[in-house]
Amino acid sequence: MAGPASAAPVFVELAREDDAALRAELVRGLTAPAAHVAPKFLYGPLGSALFDAITRLAEYYPTRTEAAIFAAERDAIARACGRGRPLVDLGAADCAKAAALFDALQPSQYVAVDISVDYVRDALQRLQRCHPALPMLGVGMDFTAALELPPQVGPGPRTLFYPGSSIGNFMPEEALVLLRRVHAACAGGALLIGVDLVKPREVLEAAYADALGVTAAFDLNLLRNVNARLGADFDPRQWRHVAFFDARASRIEMHLEAREALTVRWPGGERRFAGGERIHTENSYKYRRGDFEAMLRDAGFGRTQGWTDARGWFAVFVAQAG
Ligand code: AVI
Repeated sequence: MAGPASAAPVFVELAREDDAALRAELVRGLTAPAAHVAPKFLYGPLGSALFDAITRLAEYYPTRTEAAIFAAERDAIARACGRGRPLVDLGAADCAKAAALFDALQPSQYVAVDISVDYVRDALQRLQRCHPALPMLGVGMDFTAALELPPQVGPGPRTLFYPGSSIGNFMPEEALVLLRRVHAACAGGALLIGVDLVKPREVLEAAYADALGVTAAFDLNLLRNVNARLGADFDPRQWRHVAFFDARASRIEMHLEAREALTVRWPGGERRFAGGERIHTENSYKYRRGDFEAMLRDAGFGRTQGWTDARGWFAVFVAQAG
């Protein structure tokens, strides 16, 4: 006999990636005096799998530390967020972090947002089978450019969920702009966000230059992504991964460094790199708790509650938008 009918997730694609604009952005970055490529080019099928592997490394503490805080504080977090609201997951990917909070938050709807609905389609369909009564919506949009949620998102206050310290991959001034947009999208609800904190340099640098070289592979794979997108001829074997903590800027910087003098070519252009010259690929800001709370206030949020692990390495905040 057939079981109860399961609701099907609804998918909405709000903005397709514009190929020409992405290629122009790459050329601008590669030909700048200090070459740089945005961290979004780290991702793709292999890049996302490598990032998933990073989150399982002994040295990469953020993912498991955040999960432990969510598990230890789930009731307090649910009370602070309010139960029974739409849960909007920014950068949902495999939806696993949000799904782990369903029992506590009892959302009225789950909205998985990612750069393309294709990134959340399989995960959302699987999740729907485990939670047949929960309405689910997959939204493809670049929320770092604009955060207009579609009308299919339930009315009233929402919980916006931005875990993993992804906010740390933005310059503080960009992070503030994003948090202001998130504040508006909460519609009087709250933001649940995970933020990585300042800690000893050796711990930070090991997390971004692990012994197995998984982070190095993640960084080098960006060159393959650039080749695919731009038709460039980067050879990853000619580059090495470099990561260090800049204490003044309070950020980890990731770079790819040319092992030797070389020229990279793509249709219509080229760039000569001296040996030792670098391409800046990612920043990962580490905050002091008070500084991040001040940023939440600047973004318009009111009462903020925060939780950390015993070592004070990572923080989870619920900031009220109402
Ligand atoms: C996605 N983001 C929060 C990661 C971080 O820690 O900044 C990306 C990452 N880069 C290297 N390792 C992990």
